Amino acid sequence: MKTTASNPRMARGYATAGADQPLRPFTFERRSPNDEDVVIDIAYCGVCHSDVHAAHNAWGMSHYPMVPGHEITGVVREVGKAVARFKKGDRVGIGCFIDSCTTQGHRDRDHEHYLPGLVLTYNGFEPGSKAPTLGGYSDSIVVKEGYVLSVPEALPLDAAAPLLCAGVTVYSPLRKWQVGPGAKVAIVGLGGLGHVAVKMARAMGAEVTVLSRTLKKRDDALKLGAKAVFATESPATFADLASAFDLVLSTVSGDVDWNAYLGLIRLDGTFITVGVPDGPVPVSAFPLIVGRRRLAGSYMGSIKETQEMLDFCARHGVTADIEIIAIQDINTAFARVAKSDVRYRFVIDLASLDKEGRAS
Ligand SMILES: NC(=O)c1ccc[n+]([C@@H]2O[C@H](COP(=O)([O-])OP(=O)(O)OC[C@H]3O[C@@H](n4cnc5c(N)ncnc54)[C@H](OP(=O)(O)O)[C@@H]3O)[C@@H](O)[C@H]2O)c1
Ligand SMILES: [Zn+2]
Repeated sequence: MKTTASNPRMARGYATAGADQPLRPFTFERRSPNDEDVVIDIAYCGVCHSDVHAAHNAWGMSHYPMVPGHEITGVVREVGKAVARFKKGDRVGIGCFIDSCTTQGHRDRDHEHYLPGLVLTYNGFEPGSKAPTLGGYSDSIVVKEGYVLSVPEALPLDAAAPLLCAGVTVYSPLRKWQVGPGAKVAIVGLGGLGHVAVKMARAMGAEVTVLSRTLKKRDDALKLGAKAVFATESPATFADLASAFDLVLSTVSGDVDWNAYLGLIRLDGTFITVGVPDGPVPVSAFPLIVGRRRLAGSYMGSIKETQEMLDFCARHGVTADIEIIAIQDINTAFARVAKSDVRYRFVIDLASLDKEGRAS
C-alpha cells in the first residue's frame, strides 16, 4: 500500500490545472468506499492519445484539475461487504468508465457506454455529486465492483494496461463487424490503438494491411502480423488498393481525407473511425454511393466486451508493445505522443510516485 497510515484515502498523482498547463504532482482524497466498492492500488496506467486531447481541452469539454488516465491495472487493496467477485490481492483493471445509467434494462443491453448517465473514469463527475472523477495517473482508485475487470494471469499488468482502452476500442468494432478468417481489413495509423488492432484482427483470422503515413514502421507492422504495409503519403496507394477491403478501421488522431479512404472499400464494405480528429471531417456523397459503402464510428466498449477482450487477449497472447516511464516523465511523454514518437504505448509505472514522498 502506498498511502499513509494516517489517512488511507489520500492519493498521490499528477494533474493538470488547465489546457496550457503541464502535469504536476497532485495530492487528493479518494471517496470512502461503499459496500459494493473495490479499492485498488494502481500499478500501471497507459498513456492514451485521448489523455493528451483531453488535457489540452481539444474537444472543449475538459474540466480541471484533471488527473488523466483510463488504462489502469493494479491489485485489489480492499473490498466492500457486498463485493462477491473480487478479494484482496486480485489482479484487476479499470477502463474508460466507472459507472453508467442504472435504469432497469440498460445494463442488460450491453451497450451502457452509448447511453446517457455514463461516468468517465476522469473528466466526469462522481454519480450524484459535483466531485470530479480523477483517473489513473495516481496510486489508488475506488470503483464499483460492476466496473472492475479481472486481468487474466496470462497477461502481465504493464503490457495489459493499454488493453483497457486501446484494446477494447478496436476489439469492439472488429467483433461488431464480424471480422474473421478471410476478411480483408486495413488498419489506418500504427499507433497505440492501431498496433493492437493489427494483432487482434490477425488473431481473428483476418488478412491485415497497415496504412501508415510513411513506410518507416513497415518492419514493425509485419512483425505485428500485417501482410502488407502501404504509405498513405503516396497517392499511388489509393489507386493500387481501390475497392480492396471489407473493412477499413481508422485510428488516426489527425485530419485525413476520408473520401480517399472510402475508395479503398469494396461493395457494401465499411469505414469505421475510432480516431478523433480535432476538427470536422468533410465527406462527399459519391464515394459512399458508388459502392454502397458505409461510414461508421465506434466508442470504447462495454464492460462485458472489455472482459471478453481481456480473455481473448489471454488466449491469443495479445498485449501492447510498451515503453515504461516514470510519472515524472509524463510531460515529455505527452509531447512525444503528439508527435507520434512512441512504439507503441507509454505505460506509467506508478511505483515511481514513491520518489514524490508520501501523501498525508
Ligand atoms: N473511439 C474511441 O472510443 C477512442 C478510444 C481511444 C482513443 N481514441 C482516439 O483514437 C485516436 C488514436 O489514439 P492512439 O492513442 O492510438 O494515438 P496514437 O498512438 O498517437 O496513434 C495515432 C496514429 O495516427 C497516425 N496519425 C497521427 N496524426 C496523423 C495525421 N495528422 N495524419 C495521418 N495520420 C496520423 C499515426 O500513425 P502513423 O505514424 O502510422 O501514420 C499515429 O501513430 C486518438 O484520436 C484518440 O483520441 C478513440
Ligand atoms: Zn483511451
